[in-house]
Amino acid sequence: MRIVSGIQPTGNLHLGNYLGAIRNWVRMQDAMEEGSQCLFFLADLHAISMPHVPADLNAATLEMAAALVACGIDPERSILFNQAQVPAHSELQWLLNGTARMGWLNRMTQFKDKSGKNREGASAALFTYPVLQAADVLLYQATHVPVGEDQKQHLELARDIAQKFNNDFGGQDGLAGEEIFTLPDPIIPPEAARIMSLRDGTAKMSKSDPSEMSRINLSDDADTIMQKVRKAKTDPEPLPSEPAGLEGRPEAANLVSIYATMAGVSAEDVLRDFGGEGFGKFKPALGNVLVETLGPISSRFTELKADREELDAILARGALEAREIARPTLDAAYKALGLVRGSGM
Ligand code: TYM
Repeated sequence: MRIVSGIQPTGNLHLGNYLGAIRNWVRMQDAMEEGSQCLFFLADLHAISMPHVPADLNAATLEMAAALVACGIDPERSILFNQAQVPAHSELQWLLNGTARMGWLNRMTQFKDKSGKNREGASAALFTYPVLQAADVLLYQATHVPVGEDQKQHLELARDIAQKFNNDFGGQDGLAGEEIFTLPDPIIPPEAARIMSLRDGTAKMSKSDPSEMSRINLSDDADTIMQKVRKAKTDPEPLPSEPAGLEGRPEAANLVSIYATMAGVSAEDVLRDFGGEGFGKFKPALGNVLVETLGPISSRFTELKADREELDAILARGALEAREIARPTLDAAYKALGLVRGSGM
């Protein structure tokens, strides 16, 4: 197994990232068997697809690295790095641009969401972003990619690109059917595939939401967490005693699912305890569960992010290892396309 995934170093790491992806990264790392490998990276190259402040990007990348380590990513067991230190990501993206089809990219919902009404003014990088994401995983022959639901479409595109590239350019050395790229499988946690905003149960919790009250950040202190939960949007009904009763109540459903995921129980269990109760009772209990779990992560994060030298060293070491793993696949892709490079590349 080779497990690969990334996160953009823009904004804070929030509860959606944690429950939808990072917690799974840690679980997969901890369950890793001999011969398997985990690569986790900060997608700083992706961050330039939207307006950004260059002077802040490096600090944000280091901070996100600290957040991942605080969540349990162990740089001794997993390879942790940032894309910008592994040029093979950009190189492979260009090679895959010849295979990706405009029609495929036109269907990507994230481009539609992020470009909004300003399609013509969006960067070309925002449009071709999913090809870079395909390069991110294909470069390492990833077998499994732990992500939240919103990345599923990008992973499907990565599979389509890999398949077409293999069909069009594989097997030229007399090895009929030789596969250049492995088709990766997305790993999406069913119980936390999509954590929603605390202000609107129909919108996903996101770094780009202008309201800080919409998300819980891993750097929030206990008071802030309690306040955000207290102010979370709800409806006037008490909680139902079974999950079916959450239908048509997106905010209530979201809070129940956050409680269940954080406490490691099912929604049925939560409603068995809180069915018939109002949010006045449920919200403080939810706040407590969040504070208990996130508190230790948040203190580790505060400690780690102060040590920039150590973070730099972790990322430099990770990049060195990532470059080694990437090399044979990148070489094979150049060769398959008939591109000749001198020795020493
Ligand atoms: P990003 O940085 O937006 O999010 C990082 C991870 O968090 C998950 N996630 C969520 N899960 C559940 N509920 C939510 N509200 C929520 N918000 C975010 C995302 O699904 C993701 O797994 N394009 C990617 C980064 C990337 C990547 C890759 C991922 C670049 N290359 C290659 C996997 C493989 C992104 O912007 O994620």
